[in-house]
Amino acid sequence: MPPRISLTRYLVEQQRHDNRIPAQLRLLLEVVARACKSISMAVNKGALGGVLGSTETENVQGEIQKKLDVIANEVLIEANEWGGHLAAMASEEMDGIYVVPNRYPQGEYLLLFDPLDGSSNIDVNVSIGTIFSVLRKPEGPSGVTLQDFLQPGHQQVAAGYCIYGPQTTLVLTVGAGVVMFTLDREQGSFVLTQESLQIPPDTREFAINMSNMRHWAAPVRRYVDECLAGREGPRGKDFNMRWIASMVADVHRILTRGGIFMYPWDNREPDKPGKLRLMYEANPMGWIVEQAGGAASDGLGRILDIHPASLHQRVSVMLGSRHEVERLAAYHTAL
Ligand code: AHG
Ligand code: MN
Ligand code: MN
Repeated sequence: MPPRISLTRYLVEQQRHDNRIPAQLRLLLEVVARACKSISMAVNKGALGGVLGSTETENVQGEIQKKLDVIANEVLIEANEWGGHLAAMASEEMDGIYVVPNRYPQGEYLLLFDPLDGSSNIDVNVSIGTIFSVLRKPEGPSGVTLQDFLQPGHQQVAAGYCIYGPQTTLVLTVGAGVVMFTLDREQGSFVLTQESLQIPPDTREFAINMSNMRHWAAPVRRYVDECLAGREGPRGKDFNMRWIASMVADVHRILTRGGIFMYPWDNREPDKPGKLRLMYEANPMGWIVEQAGGAASDGLGRILDIHPASLHQRVSVMLGSRHEVERLAAYHTAL
């Protein structure tokens, strides 16, 4: 049996390897993983821990917060604020940025997260997760500002997600491919279970919320129509469909066996570019998918090249198997 490689050992070895991960970033990733472990425990307790159901508060996106949205947000903040590795944090569940209180040392990194992704699945016992993205705070004499966060996704220095499903699995990139760790509950540690994840460039599986079909733009409708036409249609093959309604779970499936995930713009709310959030969902997932050989587009260009104008900016998302994402993007320019 090959030796078990813990997340700690993996990160230490990455640090040794040309200092790919500076010490502060290593600490940051350890702390995020520890927070995810604690969120995982809360998720697993479910009704026994009193964590199911909603609060009476709305987040900045206008969504009623679930109890677990709030708990996961607090766990991530409390775990990360005192270690000296961060300057500030931003979350889908908070209006503005959270600057590390000045009783703690300030670090050089910025952490962004969707503390609980797939909130509609919490109460029905379906996989949910946490998504995170790490940026370096730009150099400058002044303290940290919201402006410091508005960096395009290609400047991320680490990104990952933890999925709370039948197994709790942490998927991570620091720009050197994608690695996967599985939580060993008895040992209490994440153990490396897969390296160099690769998304096959072709697929016969797509993921989209079909109930929005009548609201889609023409290129998306064309792409899905052609998939649905199957072997007799222009694609000449049958397609399968999956929609979990937790981006973490849909992306996890795509990393495991390929596929394309779409949450495109639609005309339910025509002024919004999409439903998903650029900084907490599209950028980290887009980078992970690219690092695994896939592609991530908003239909017009690479998601990672978008220059954010605001923290909670939304975006149209199409990601996964490279040839399919390229085809869908080409339909956008053709029409
Ligand atoms: P969140 O729970 O963080 O608000 O994100 C939910 C997102 C994403 O995970 C998922 O792909 C999508 O919303 C599901 O939306 P629909 O309910 O419209 O299918
Ligand atoms: Mn989400
Ligand atoms: Mn969320």
